Amino acid sequence: MNNTFPIKKKSLLFAPMEGITDEAYRLAVMKTFPEWDLFSTDFLRVPTEGSFSKKFIMEHFGKEAYAKPDLRNKTAFQILANEKGNTPLACQQIENLGFKHLDLNLGCPSKRVNQHLGGAYLLSDLKALQKIIKNIRENFPHHFSVKMRIGYKDDSNFLNCIKLFENEGVDAITIHGRTRDQLYKGTADWEYIKMASKETSVPIIGNGDIWSVTDIENIFDYTNCHSIMLGRGALKTPWLAPLYKMKERYNKEELFEIRKKRIPLYFSSLKEEYAKRCSQDALILKRFKSFSRNIFDDFPQNEIVKRKFMRSKSLKEFEELLDFFCK
Ligand SMILES: Cc1cc2nc3c(=O)[nH]c(=O)nc-3n(C[C@H](O)[C@H](O)[C@H](O)COP(=O)(O)O)c2cc1C
Repeated sequence: MNNTFPIKKKSLLFAPMEGITDEAYRLAVMKTFPEWDLFSTDFLRVPTEGSFSKKFIMEHFGKEAYAKPDLRNKTAFQILANEKGNTPLACQQIENLGFKHLDLNLGCPSKRVNQHLGGAYLLSDLKALQKIIKNIRENFPHHFSVKMRIGYKDDSNFLNCIKLFENEGVDAITIHGRTRDQLYKGTADWEYIKMASKETSVPIIGNGDIWSVTDIENIFDYTNCHSIMLGRGALKTPWLAPLYKMKERYNKEELFEIRKKRIPLYFSSLKEEYAKRCSQDALILKRFKSFSRNIFDDFPQNEIVKRKFMRSKSLKEFEELLDFFCK
């Protein structure tokens, strides 16, 4: 068992996001903004019957990302498990393929996932949770992290979960400061990240509502967490890792000028990666729209701007809008 978390302190992690962080997306961001320290696949559900096929695991991770060990080792493989699934076998399969970092999803709030007793549901059933954690720890000898919310219906199990992870040898804990029932309401409560960082020696990765360089500085100062993970903030500003790591600090106007320069660069690297995998512009356009959720938020009249992009009928039209709005 290796209990040393592979990343250095104050690392910036790009969060797993279903429907976003597929292989092409991760590679485009990794190549364009290499300052992100770690990525993750979105979750792969451990089957309740039978096992994963090797092809299925490889397709989920992506063959190009797999072929280059430096890229492979920069990405955690996330699974979603329940008590019934054959988690030991799934872990052995993932290990046998050479993956070095496995992450367990304990935050997914989807009704379907929770009805199948997986994701955030497990935070309310410590017996099932312990069994799964033990199964993973015994069958995966490399870095094993969990990604949790602060509870299912409420936060009453929070510290018990943290203790359980510590006792069972989990290597790192990512905490999104909301319960499952809160979904995305209100703001994430960083108090829990601070509390966990104090209570355990397991590295804590803070997550939730980190949108700017100032937020990054604040969460590190306030919680003393080991590292942080960004989801929607990374989708809004995929160049946030380089912005944080450079010495200069920019004002609002300067940040907007940087935004206008980075957006076309970002979409052109995404186009390059997606074009290698699918030849249809219509599919690339669909992907582009899913990446446009927050990226135009800082533009004047942002709702109108975003609507124009979302209504574009061809990739060419989307790119012409980029030329127009980012000049
Ligand atoms: C579109 C979308 C898809 C997500 N998919 C996953 C996922 O597959 N696995 C996971 O652990 N979290 C997933 N999340 C949760 C994020 O990783 C993150 O924990 C959450 O959004 C809070 O962080 P943020 O405020 O930085 O966005 C998803 C979030 C979004 C917005």
